[in-house]
Amino acid sequence: MLHKKLVKFDNDFLWGASTSAYQVEGANLVDGKGPSCQDVKEVPEGTSDLTVCADHYHHFKEDILLMKELGLKAYRFSFCWARIMPDGHHVNQEGLEFYDQIIQLCLENDIEPIPTLYHFEMPQALVDEFGGWKSRKCIDAFVEYAKICFQKWQGTIKHWVTINEQLIAMAASDLNGNHENDKVLQTKNMYQMSYHASLAEKKVMKLLKEIDVNAKIGVVNAVQNVYPYSSSPEDVLAAMDAEELMMYMLLDMSVKGSYSFRVKSILKNMDCYPVQEKGDDEILKSSKPDFIGINYYSSICVKENKEHRINYQLPPFFRSSMFEVCPNEHLKKTKWMSNGIDPLGIRSIIYKIYNRYALPIIITENGMAYSDVLENNRVHDTYRIEYLSAHIKEVLRAKEEGYPVFGYCPWSFIDVVSSHQGFSKRYGLVYVNRTDQDIMDCKRYKKDSFYWYKEIIERNGENI
Ligand code: BG6
Repeated sequence: MLHKKLVKFDNDFLWGASTSAYQVEGANLVDGKGPSCQDVKEVPEGTSDLTVCADHYHHFKEDILLMKELGLKAYRFSFCWARIMPDGHHVNQEGLEFYDQIIQLCLENDIEPIPTLYHFEMPQALVDEFGGWKSRKCIDAFVEYAKICFQKWQGTIKHWVTINEQLIAMAASDLNGNHENDKVLQTKNMYQMSYHASLAEKKVMKLLKEIDVNAKIGVVNAVQNVYPYSSSPEDVLAAMDAEELMMYMLLDMSVKGSYSFRVKSILKNMDCYPVQEKGDDEILKSSKPDFIGINYYSSICVKENKEHRINYQLPPFFRSSMFEVCPNEHLKKTKWMSNGIDPLGIRSIIYKIYNRYALPIIITENGMAYSDVLENNRVHDTYRIEYLSAHIKEVLRAKEEGYPVFGYCPWSFIDVVSSHQGFSKRYGLVYVNRTDQDIMDCKRYKKDSFYWYKEIIERNGENI
């Protein structure tokens, strides 16, 4: 089909960039911050721990000035719950103060701060006390924490994010304390925890409207654009089920307040349907997000699980007797982008999500990992420019067709500790001078992608 521009491009598009607290801040046990579940996880030998990260805690002023130079219209970051509430119950004023400084400095520089309440971490005290999300007590603790944030920044924050990638947050045991040797029980726990997180999310979305009627709140999903390995009906059904279970399950809950019929039947069959209590349905129907945040790095490919046996070696959400994740032969892969690079996938996922939910969309993460090398104070990351450019083109194309996409945030603004592979896997537009084992000076260097993105923002995406 020939492409025709259907809408005029607006000037209030949020050209942004993302980070998360535990990956960027460092200072993990200072100024009253308590340990989070991230701080107690085992770090593989030779990989960076979280004591320093990009040392944003001590460099945030310099970093926000770099954001200003880049021309960012929005900065998506996260609050560390354990910095704000070290024991999960009492407020640490210094923690609130730290985030207030970030927010105020962003605003002074015309950058909209978009905070996420929960990005892969919670106070370890709550895991020790009642098992974290395994217990319904976690719902109340999360609502209390959200209330403190909503009240503190009432009238200041325009867009809030509840939970980043519930899929991964609940599936990876080291991100939530679901340490269970019995893999069957671990899987069951995960669905129960996910259900509790969904209830908490609903309560928090409702609460925001009571505290700050003008503020908007959204959910961020690790979208799974799933392709069938072949056109065999078995592979096609496997792909449908994979998408239901890994993407629509969570989004249906966030938007519609219930799982789809197919998800219900799969979970019951797996004996993983969560325990519900009287009154839950009312909570689940009590609110819905104002927008959907999409984190997209690549698509995935699945085929029929011929043995109909669950592979418990995989992270819980990828465990299924109905499908098996497999390589997509059509996509170019790199060391760190092992599922392949698929720019068209980001456009098709916008179509799918808007068709099903009809809510405004923001791309909250999209990025290219590479073991960048600093040479003569420069990083020539042409591979990243190619990746980002190809993806932005597809996003803008969807926008030109009229899909309400209101922002785009590459992951990450600056190099951060990757979720599982430390500092050798980098995504930033700004290079941080350190390695996994040597903290060096953490000096900032603008990569080629920084200068390139600056131009894209200046041109508002025209002729990319
Ligand atoms: C997303 C997360 O899943 O992907 C980020 O929201 C994460 O926290 C990013 O860093 C990239 O993943 P990784 O594992 O390469 O760091």
